[in-house]
Order: sequence, then structure tokens, then C-alpha cells
Amino acid sequence: MKSKKILVTGGAGYIGAHTVVELFASGYSPVIIDNFSKSDRTLLDGIEKITGKALTFYEGDCTDRQFLNGVFEKEGKLEGVMHFAAYKSVGESVEFPIMYYQNNINSLLALVEVMKEHQVNNLIFSSSCTVYGEPDSIPVDEYAPFKKAESPYGATKQMCEQILEDAVRADIDLKVISLRYFNPIGAHPSAMLGELPIDKPNNLVPYITQTAASIREKLVIFGGDYDTPDGTCIRDFIHIVDLAQAHVKAIDKLLGEGISDGYQYYNLGTGQGISVLQLVKEFIEVTGVKLNYEIGPRRAGDVVKTYANPTKAKNELNWSAQYTSRDALRDAWAWEKRLRRLNT
Ligand code: UFG
Repeated sequence: MKSKKILVTGGAGYIGAHTVVELFASGYSPVIIDNFSKSDRTLLDGIEKITGKALTFYEGDCTDRQFLNGVFEKEGKLEGVMHFAAYKSVGESVEFPIMYYQNNINSLLALVEVMKEHQVNNLIFSSSCTVYGEPDSIPVDEYAPFKKAESPYGATKQMCEQILEDAVRADIDLKVISLRYFNPIGAHPSAMLGELPIDKPNNLVPYITQTAASIREKLVIFGGDYDTPDGTCIRDFIHIVDLAQAHVKAIDKLLGEGISDGYQYYNLGTGQGISVLQLVKEFIEVTGVKLNYEIGPRRAGDVVKTYANPTKAKNELNWSAQYTSRDALRDAWAWEKRLRRLNT
């Protein structure tokens, strides 16, 4: 039997690339789209090394309907789409809101229109726990209301989910699962694949590993005076491989037993809240590497504390996180060392 083709937009990015590996491992045939605006071709090489498969890849932009149409025409029958291609930095979105709305909203609209033109009806959408804003209570479950987003990035994810919910309501054939990520960190345990920010990292763990590798002078922890036990923000850090595997479970469900209501959404987190300072200390313990860090001012747009109640994903997708944050930090450091050819 021919394996099912899944289009993966943003497949050369951090989460997309790890998901492509897991799709291959589960017998799917991923077809990758990326425009390399925030990603690097190195990750495609990593996928090939891990899987031993030749990749089907198209370079182009998801806001470009003509390009998307060309891909759908060329590929013929696609069983589903995973839409990762989007800008994702909270801080950057505060600085460049229009760029975020322009890219994240328009790419989704173009993609869904082109999917419908080609009768492709199954979509997995990359959403985020930022849709909850600053939650009233933690752990946060899927029934928590969407509070005002703390950043334009978060607002784009709220809007995209609304668009999808409305699109599903108007179209009996369309089926969508939104996956609300908490904080993905780590790298593939082979060290062949990991996070590779194009410029200065915005996210915590690549900043930690680059500082440990002496590429950055010091890590600044954004805010030490929050209302949390150690004054730093609290997040739910989930291993990237766990997150990638959840996507396979989600597409299995969409293509298999299906979902109720045509639109479903799941939190993807470990269920454990860890502070930024705790994570920094764990990194030092796990790796034995010195890390130059200091507490600095708060960053605009940050949620103070959030972590997941992941029960719905466990019950309905039969998925739960298997790795710990320590595993993720060990793997992130192994990837960074390989990338920089360090022997520490
Ligand atoms: N942080 C620092 N110093 C840094 C970078 C980050 O202290 O140099 C702090 C942040 O202030 C925050 C925490 O580390 O408190 C995590 O920050 P990240 O930028 O790594 O992650 P965010 O929580 O801001 O957002 C990330 C992704 C989003 C995703 C979200 C879900 O960037 O795409 O997790 O929570 F939606």
C-alpha cells in the first residue's frame, strides 16, 4: 500500500523538521514546504541523515496562493496538511506586529483556500498556549477562556483558531485539530537535528546553549520580581520529540476514527511548571557546563506563569510526554556541541 502523503508547511523549521522525522517513522510520506525566512537548510540534511530518506521539498511562501496551488497540483492526492509555517517570537511580535499579522494570518487563509480547491480536508494547526493569555488558574486546560493575548504573536494564534473554527462550521468536510504547544525545547536524541535560530535566539534554551558554547556573552533572565516562588516566569517545557509525536497521533486520529464537531484542540505540555531560573540550574547540573547569567529587566509580552493540564490529549489522542526537561536540556546541549564542533 502507498503511504499517505502529508504536506508539512514550515518543515525545515524546528518543530516541523522533528515532526517530519516522526511522520516517516510512522509510515507517512511527508512533503515539505519552507521559505527559509526563519529556518536553515541544515535541518533538512539532519532529517535525511536520521531517516535515510530522500526528501520531497518545495521552496516557497505560504502566503503565495500560486505557489501553493502548484505544489498541490504537482503532488496529487494529499491526505492532510500540517501547518507549522509562521513567525513565533513573542518579543519580536511586540516590535513588528504588522509583520506578524500579515504573515501568520495570510498564510493560513491562503492555505485553507488552496486546500479546499484541491479537496484536501484534514488540517493540523500549530497553535500555542499563548491563546490563553495570562490564565486565571493553572494548570490550564482547554476550557479556559481566551483572555486578551499578551502579544501580537498570541493574538495571531487566537485569530487563526477562530478562523478555523468558523471555516469548519461552514464546511462539513473540513476537519481541523489545533495543537496548543507549551514550550518546546531540546533536540533529537541523535544530535542530528535541533533548534537553529537564524540570528540571535529569542527563545530561552537556544540562548542558554549558545551562551554555554561562548557564542553569546551572557544569558539575561527576563525579570526576577514576578509573583512566583523564585521571581522568574514559569513555563511547561516539553521535549521536541514528544511534541512531534503528538502530531502523528493527531493526524492518525483525523484520518482514522475522526473527531467530534470537525474542530478539536489539545494542550501539548508535560503538566509540570518549571521556572526559568530552575531550568537554567538544571542545565548547569545536567551538562556540568558553566553558564554566565544574570537577572535583568522584564520582557514585554511575557505571560507570568503557565503550565498545561494535558489530560484531554492523553484521553483522546492517547498521547503524553515521555521525556523530562533534563532529557531535553541534555539533548539540546548535545546538538549545540555537534553544531559548533565542541568537545566539552
Ligand atoms: N527568557 C529569558 N531570557 C531569554 C529568553 C527567554 O529569561 O534570553 C524567558 C522569557 O522571558 C520567558 C521564558 O524564558 O519567561 C520562555 O521564553 P521563550 O521565549 O523561550 O518562550 P515563550 O514562553 O515566550 O514562547 C514560546 C514560543 C512560542 C510558544 C510559547 C508557548 O516562542 O512560540 O512558547 O508558551 F507559543
